[in-house]
Amino acid sequence: MNVFSRPLRSSNGILKHCAQSRSFYWPSRFARQPSSSSQKWSHPPSSTTVADDEVSTLASQPLHTLSLEDLVKHGRPPLSTEALYASANFTLSLLPIRLAHRVESLRNLPFIVVSNPNISKIYNNYLHSLSTLLPYKSKSISNLEDEIRFTSVLADLVETHSQTIPTLARGFLECRKYINSTEVTRFLDEHLRARIGTRLIAEQHIALHVSSQPHQDTKPASKRSNNGTSYIGVIDTALQPASVINSCGNFVSEICELNYGVRPTWIIDGEPDTTLAYVPVHLEYIITELLKNAFRATVESGRSHEPIVITIAAEPENSRRGSSAAHPDGLGRTFGTNGNPIEPFEDSAPGVTIRIRDRGGGISPEVLPNIWSYSFTTFSEEDELPGSGNMDALNAISGAGGEGSSIAGLGYGLPLSRAYAEYFGGGIAVQSLYGWGCDVYLRLKGLGRPR
Ligand SMILES: Nc1ncnc2c1ncn2[C@@H]1O[C@H](COP(=O)(O)OP(=O)(O)OP(=O)(O)O)[C@@H](O)[C@H]1O
Ligand SMILES: [Mg+2]
Repeated sequence: MNVFSRPLRSSNGILKHCAQSRSFYWPSRFARQPSSSSQKWSHPPSSTTVADDEVSTLASQPLHTLSLEDLVKHGRPPLSTEALYASANFTLSLLPIRLAHRVESLRNLPFIVVSNPNISKIYNNYLHSLSTLLPYKSKSISNLEDEIRFTSVLADLVETHSQTIPTLARGFLECRKYINSTEVTRFLDEHLRARIGTRLIAEQHIALHVSSQPHQDTKPASKRSNNGTSYIGVIDTALQPASVINSCGNFVSEICELNYGVRPTWIIDGEPDTTLAYVPVHLEYIITELLKNAFRATVESGRSHEPIVITIAAEPENSRRGSSAAHPDGLGRTFGTNGNPIEPFEDSAPGVTIRIRDRGGGISPEVLPNIWSYSFTTFSEEDELPGSGNMDALNAISGAGGEGSSIAGLGYGLPLSRAYAEYFGGGIAVQSLYGWGCDVYLRLKGLGRPR
């Protein structure tokens, strides 16, 4: 039986009417300090019941610092049955704590904000997902039936939370009267960084499940995945940034053509053959956002004929050797649960820096201090582009892509890209030469210690 043939639960909007009927104009002093007699009102309305004690006990446990090593430690697919159970139990040891932290953090928002239908929906999604994992918390997964059920719970979790970013963005746009942008940025930065890890943990087990020995055995030989792949779950151990840049460049230039009627070009130089172990969807997100910014600036400054120059630089050999001291055996090797080294991590993956250089006029000193704030954008709803405005940008950021995508408009591009890059120890720096153009440095670390 394949768990993915089961229909997924539709997203949770059960409480919408409750949240809407609650006064939206309560003074925030009531929102933040509910009286003891109205203790129950201190939490946003929800049909999912998870005991408060359970949430607070889980939320009081520290968050495990996730690393790429954690995600590959169960070995290369196809995983044995034992390694598959180890992956499921590792996943189970992390997710309820992570979800409880998010529930607490949403509860700490001003009540008027979390009562907004969009934000309340996200709150309910977290509570719902936590309630679906709790039945597994008291046991260890040690048979295939439980593992299959648990994986379907993870698939449900991934699906339920797929629209979190546009939903929260819409919610905070609607609540901008009640919460200032610094508080929004602080909340979103923590929340969206935590979400990166939570999704990754769930998606990694789902991917390992699909390509594991017990589940491969149930498929006809023609449908079994190729064991020669460079993937370990959702991680590509031989990801080539140049090929990601080319495919994202094609996508972004198509949006440019739709919106502006021109297609800026790009050149890749440096070391385009460089590869590293990384999560492809993360790199695709970051590169798409950085190219959108560079292309937009290039076109709007009237320099569409100037190509964007993208330089790929791999860390030198000696710095790779130096960093390997951080690995368990001091030789840069990572070990699977069976004790065997997982190739190609015998030699730790190199760090890579990518510089995106545009001639789009740079960033003015008034704009520069705001570029890392969520929801700061210089794109206005009056801009005469088809599909312009924040709400269209919301659709674009939700991954709808394709026709109707906006080139800019929400102000999430840079801060969220930086959150992705920093997750595995990399980063993004913007160097503006006002009046000339921008250099954006993206540093990626294949194997690192994220927060
Ligand atoms: N390469 C660049 N050249 C000129 N200005 C830039 C560049 N990159 C970013 N900016 C400025 O920084 C602002 C914030 O960028 P960010 O990517 O976070 O948001 P956005 O592009 O406005 O919207 P979104 O990315 O969510 O669609 C932009 O509105 C733009 O003014
Ligand atoms: Mg942008």
